[in-house]
Amino acid sequence: MDEPANNSKISESIITVDGPSGAGKGTLCQLLAKKLGWHLLDSGALYRVLGIAAHRHGICLSDIDELARIARDMDLYFKINEVSGEVEPFFEGSNLADFIRTDEAGQAASKVAALLPVREALLEKQRAFYQKPGLIADGRDMGTTVFPDSAVKVFLTASAECRAERRVEQLKSKGVSANMRAIFDSIKARDERDRTRKNSPLVPAKEALIVDSSNMTIDEVLSQVIEFAEKKLLAVK
Ligand code: DC
Repeated sequence: MDEPANNSKISESIITVDGPSGAGKGTLCQLLAKKLGWHLLDSGALYRVLGIAAHRHGICLSDIDELARIARDMDLYFKINEVSGEVEPFFEGSNLADFIRTDEAGQAASKVAALLPVREALLEKQRAFYQKPGLIADGRDMGTTVFPDSAVKVFLTASAECRAERRVEQLKSKGVSANMRAIFDSIKARDERDRTRKNSPLVPAKEALIVDSSNMTIDEVLSQVIEFAEKKLLAVK
């Protein structure tokens, strides 16, 4: 892959948060972005939209060139919903907010994400999310590949059992029935694919703070990350 476009000043204002699905990255990143007044990149949403786009256009996973072309040319933008405050993706003009969080979209994302030409096509798109005063980048390879010079790197994880329980609770709170076993199996399958793929696998960056959120509240995770970020940012000044 080509060299990152970021310089050292920019790197001081990027916090990367990587980890498996359901570890609490999304919530942590939203809280960090709000607290610091920084921008947010939900890189998983790009892969999820691409998975849905492939399905809608009837493109199979073996058609790698076409997938990479869609990744490069995607008509995609994000808009904040003024009522819920959530960031919603619009693909070819239609709002995909109701579709991207499903388990199917997660599995499709994980499959297209294993393809190198797709990852290369999305690389610059992800880097272009950087805007002053800073960026919180949420994903699997933010600290290792997309923003390797970021001053603050966090790897947030939790046991698969705990992540499955959280997902079941989340679905229940939305009135959706959930099968614990099926969710657990799906999480394990996605972990396996994301961790063992050849291209930008899910691994902690060498200098990342590793946080296991299994027995922590989100407030505890947030304060541990803020404390680490403050120390790191003071050290680079
Ligand atoms: O973070 P998420 O659950 O929305 O991500 C969905 C899938 O996309 C995930 O299983 C792997 C892939 N992904 C990736 O490979 N690299 C990223 N930076 C973000 C997500």
